Amino acid sequence: MTAVYPGSFDPTTLGHLDIITRASAFADKLVVAVLNNSAKSALFTAEERVAHVKEVTSGIKNVSVESFEGLLVDFVKKQGAHCVIRGLRAVTDFEYEFQMALTNRSMKTDLETLFIPTSTQYLYLSSNIVREIARFGGNIDNMVPPQIKKYVIEKYK
Ligand code: PNS
Repeated sequence: MTAVYPGSFDPTTLGHLDIITRASAFADKLVVAVLNNSAKSALFTAEERVAHVKEVTSGIKNVSVESFEGLLVDFVKKQGAHCVIRGLRAVTDFEYEFQMALTNRSMKTDLETLFIPTSTQYLYLSSNIVREIARFGGNIDNMVPPQIKKYVIEKYK
């Protein structure tokens, strides 16, 4: 089974890496899909974000990383996939995720969204939080892989 794990990855967090590691253990092939949204201003460019995910997943053989624009379902179709992976943290994620899963399935009826509950140590973690803390010089050691920490700090210099 090929599964697609989409997101902004701005930046990649340990929470993302946790989901990628766990999803790649049961999918034959996991395609990480980095959203390239020209309407949304991101800290890192799509090229940088793709490079970051590639760097931190280089040890996982069945993971590939690509960027996509437009609708997720179109990207999933191009991959010949029928499965989207999303991580779930708190209950607050649920409404948005449920809406997205149902909307995507209404556009591609053979698509299933699989939710993976986050590992508890990452319950509170998000890319937004990482950016906020890093912007004010706080410690993000327990939130992102070491390579990513370097890139984030560099951006805010
Ligand atoms: O990491 P994020 O920002 O929570 O990821 C959101 C993402 C990229 C999965 C979502 O915004 C998305 O799929 N965008 C592509 C546009 C699309 O297909 N929208 C319809 C889904 S309701």
